[in-house]
Amino acid sequence: MKILVTGGAGFIGSNFIHHILLKYPEHEVVNLDLLTYAGNLENVKRWEGDGRYRFVKGDITDAGTVDPLVAEADAVIHFAAESHVDRSILDPEAFIRTNVIGTYVLLEAARKNGLKRFHHVSTDEVFGSLGQGDAPFDEHTPYDPRSPYSASKASSDHLVRAYHETYGLPVTISNCSNNYGPYHFPEKLIPLAITNLLEGGTVPVYGDGLQVRDWLHVEDHCRAIADILERGTIGETYCIGGNGERPNIWIVKKLLEILGEGEDRIEYVKDRPGHDRRYAIDFSKIRNELGWEPSVDLEEGLRKTVAWYRDNEDWWKRVKSGEYRDYYERQYGK
Ligand code: NAD
Ligand code: TYD
Repeated sequence: MKILVTGGAGFIGSNFIHHILLKYPEHEVVNLDLLTYAGNLENVKRWEGDGRYRFVKGDITDAGTVDPLVAEADAVIHFAAESHVDRSILDPEAFIRTNVIGTYVLLEAARKNGLKRFHHVSTDEVFGSLGQGDAPFDEHTPYDPRSPYSASKASSDHLVRAYHETYGLPVTISNCSNNYGPYHFPEKLIPLAITNLLEGGTVPVYGDGLQVRDWLHVEDHCRAIADILERGTIGETYCIGGNGERPNIWIVKKLLEILGEGEDRIEYVKDRPGHDRRYAIDFSKIRNELGWEPSVDLEEGLRKTVAWYRDNEDWWKRVKSGEYRDYYERQYGK
């Protein structure tokens, strides 16, 4: 199978490329990525020169780039997005452009070229915010996005479903909880905390730190997407969770413990505007239909992630200094 991965230089997309190329020797991958600040080709450098892998630098909002790539693909796995809530609050425009228009451009190319499979990677944030005692999100939860990021992802989900209902496009959608693991860009809570602590700094905790997220190890997420691609039902949505519901302050204290640091490294800062209080996922559907469930225990996953950042200091130091951005030019020229 020839798979077009969008956003394969980002956190989850690059982990997915590793997963597919290592686990499925018969699959080929084309990685289409614009290399925004979040795209880092160093994440996938081990595949350079491999006959089953090709990188294309390009924008998913550009039909001229997207069309021929979709035409030659058997499946599209769509990760490319602006993904950071705080950035969407400061400047929503790129979120509308990439997440809404980019998804539309890909869907149009898929429709015109009779694509056999389109999988859309989305988030649990489209469902809004839960109270402490509320039942977790599932595939029937009404949409209630509350940030420009989640609103743009909600729009893209609606477009994907509309292309299935209207044009019969063979789509699947997954809405997952917060991922963590290797190659996570250090603007998000877990890699920011780990790298700040390794550098001797502090961890900014928004508000009271009691907001709850459900943490899913990225390898479990990638396996779930591969299972949906193989055995998922066309037209269906799958919620993917990690069995890892914890308040932010628990995560930060656990990282302090793993790294042998004290609570003086916590810095409580002003809260995020419109900060969603709690996300939680009921993943019974994918467990019952596809036999998937998360395999990485959260504490164990956090230890492994800390070890990865310790072992890959070069990687995150180059990200934090901005040096990672030269990589494309050095490999591929201007
Ligand atoms: P990321 O920000 O790490 O990576 C996004 C990638 O998309 C980058 O490589 C970037 O260069 C690329 N990109 C951005 N705009 C583009 C454009 N116009 N054209 C081509 N490429 C472009 O994101 P991530 O954390 O890997 O998330 C991947 C997907 O998973 C996103 O759709 C996100 O909404 C979804 N998701 C993420 C999480 C999470 O916890 N990280 C949770 C749920 C869902
Ligand atoms: P983040 O990793 O940005 O993911 P999302 O907003 O998509 O859930 O944030 C995870 C949680 O951690 C969220 O409740 C916001 C909080 N947070 C902090 O407390 N401090 C930080 O520096 C960051 C980046 C996030």
